[in-house]
Amino acid sequence: MATPIFRTSVRLLSSGSKQTGLLRDQQKQSVMTSSSKSSSNLRRYIGAGLVIAVLGGPAAAASLKSIMGGMADNTTSAKAVLANFDTNAAEQVLRRYAADAEAADTMFANQRGGKEKDLHARFSKMAVIANTASQQAQDKASFRKAFVAIATECKSCHTAYK
Ligand code: HEC
Repeated sequence: MATPIFRTSVRLLSSGSKQTGLLRDQQKQSVMTSSSKSSSNLRRYIGAGLVIAVLGGPAAAASLKSIMGGMADNTTSAKAVLANFDTNAAEQVLRRYAADAEAADTMFANQRGGKEKDLHARFSKMAVIANTASQQAQDKASFRKAFVAIATECKSCHTAYK
């Protein structure tokens, strides 16, 4: 019993440190954006940039986390639909994946960083997959195929960034 608990702690620790990295990038970007605009009021702008970084950084991360929590809940629903197939429930699950992916996509749209651009592209791709699948007639086989394609996007992005 000790081993699984240990593994869980290590996973939590390592995802925590990567999250700090993401926050640090957002803070840097925010400070840079603010200071590049400044000329006469350099100090004031940098000060404002730091305030935005402190308030905006964690809020943005919390929001991605909550979208991810929604995706995890929806994945539980998707598995239930696979176990006991229902056309309407299948369509709902796919629509929710699309909406969540679009919400996450919006967070990273119009950002300059390489990581942010890649997250934007990945969430867009996931939204397209889920949207397209949600508009097609649902049967168990096609739903399973869409679910596997979406789960592949979750895994691939987590391997890169989570
Ligand atoms: C384009 C990238 C991307 C995709 C696609 C993606 N995720 Fe994530 N996910 C992340 C990142 C980045 C984090 C870390 C967020 C943080 O800690 O702030 C994360 C974190 C999570 C977490 C942990 C949340 C927490 O409270 O710490 C869960 C659960 C999760 N994702 C589930 C999913 C599921 C399920 C899918 C697919 C249906 C998915 N994700 C698709 C990037 C992605």
